[in-house]
Amino acid sequence: MNLTHRPRRLRRDGVRSLVSEASLDASDLIAPVFVDATTDERQPIPSMPGHERVPVEEAVDRVAAVRETGVEAVMVFGIPEAKDEIGSRAWADDGVVQRAVRAITDETDAYVITDVCLCEYTDHGHCGVVEEGVPGDPTLTVKNDETLDLLRETAVSHAEAGADMVAPSSMTDGMVGAIRDGLDGNGFAEVPIMSYAAKYESAFYGPFRDAADGAPAFGDRRHYQMDPANAREAMREVALDVEQGADVLLVKPALPYLDIVSGVREEFDHPVAAYNVSGEYAMLHAAAEKGWLDLEAVAHESLLSIKRAGADLILTYFAEDVAERL
Ligand code: PBG
Repeated sequence: MNLTHRPRRLRRDGVRSLVSEASLDASDLIAPVFVDATTDERQPIPSMPGHERVPVEEAVDRVAAVRETGVEAVMVFGIPEAKDEIGSRAWADDGVVQRAVRAITDETDAYVITDVCLCEYTDHGHCGVVEEGVPGDPTLTVKNDETLDLLRETAVSHAEAGADMVAPSSMTDGMVGAIRDGLDGNGFAEVPIMSYAAKYESAFYGPFRDAADGAPAFGDRRHYQMDPANAREAMREVALDVEQGADVLLVKPALPYLDIVSGVREEFDHPVAAYNVSGEYAMLHAAAEKGWLDLEAVAHESLLSIKRAGADLILTYFAEDVAERL
């Protein structure tokens, strides 16, 4: 048989890595870190094996452990000591994220990104100010424009604490512009914004909401997060954030939305990030625990597929495990 085309020629060891199109590198990964002001002991997160909420005093140790794996960047999430209607601990100078970021930037060389949102800080668990109404009424909505001031203030307080980059995740219209304004007006013109530009209303966030204690007390997030049915709309969402000055464009979740990752990669020239979310992590762990999947292999393959789809950076709970084996 004389076949001209034998794709198998390039699949043998020795040559396969020369021709591989995508690869994983620890420098492309961001490790999420949960800092909890309500505890003085580490609290394991049952639905996210291997992850813990750490007290503020242990934030530095936690990040030092991430750095040892070769991962250079962390995303800090905070669980505040108290919640209220408007989430005022989100921008407090002595808030959980502010204290943790000060310590981390003083004592480690990690690149520190902060999640800018209000859902962990509001007593109703929504990502902004809610309308006056009867609590428990599922038709209550989050007031967009009133929320912008609070997000701006939160982002500025993170930068004041030393955050290298801020990442607004509340899907408030205009959030990137408001935050850019706040940062520029307060001497932080060099702090980039990674916008959760296309964030879907996804059931894959379940384990995170346990971890960060941010489940909405009533209603859901359908009126501000994106409809999973829509792909073209994502391009409009992303374009708006680009106009407002987003530096990095994030798509979330990752695996069920690889078409969006690849669409954003095609349409925009900005760096593209993807968030391999808590549910994507939890389901692989659950299957591996049953002996149905090889965890190391599927974790690696998942992250590789996200890179192949066009992501430059990946926010993932697998960051440390995968980086250690690279
Ligand atoms: C806050 C926020 C959420 C996640 C990241 N930032 C929760 C949400 O929107 O409900 C989810 C991350 C994950 O599932 O890993 N708005």
